[in-house]
Amino acid sequence: MGKKIVFATNNAHKLQEIRQIVGDKLEILSLADIGCHEDIPETADTLAGNAELKARYVKEHYGYDCFADDTGLIVDALNGAPGVYSARYAGPGHDSVANTRLLLKNLEGVEDRSARFVTVICLIGGDEARFFEGKVEGVITREPAGCGGFGYDPVFLPAEADVTFAEMPAEAKNAISHRGRATAALLDYLSQL
Ligand code: IMP
Repeated sequence: MGKKIVFATNNAHKLQEIRQIVGDKLEILSLADIGCHEDIPETADTLAGNAELKARYVKEHYGYDCFADDTGLIVDALNGAPGVYSARYAGPGHDSVANTRLLLKNLEGVEDRSARFVTVICLIGGDEARFFEGKVEGVITREPAGCGGFGYDPVFLPAEADVTFAEMPAEAKNAISHRGRATAALLDYLSQL
């Protein structure tokens, strides 16, 4: 196993996805692994701003090189909502079922269902911040389908597939997903160091 680096998350799904993508090139530690149990503020109004806040917090308080991601689901007919507020679309807390239900309600009767997931990763190595972006285009379905993945996966139909993210095996989602692409860009950079 190579160098240790913190991924500033405790989301088990994301950790599993990223460890699967990274393989044995890097040892990925979670916030729990380094004993960080506090809520890191995510008060910026952009994905890049929030990713940087999280990564800098870990570097400053725990000393580890760290990367953090922030993801938003951007729906054209909703003027880009839920966007940077995707985790709290239906109110405080992280209730994916409520968020997804509200999204479908707000798109009732709407024909243009185009949307994209965007992930921004911020890597803090030393003092320097670097950013990596991944994007996947698709549409919001009219009903949830599938029980894999997490978050908005049951209602996101990528343009490159004919089933929702929640109906795909993890490897198929990772190959085309926003996080898969942003992580590939991060790994490409790390492999050149
Ligand atoms: P976060 O900033 O990565 O925590 O993501 C913000 C919101 O987007 C959360 O509500 C997640 O459930 C949702 N989200 C992030 N990544 C994905 C994904 O790959 N599929 C579906 N929803 C996601």
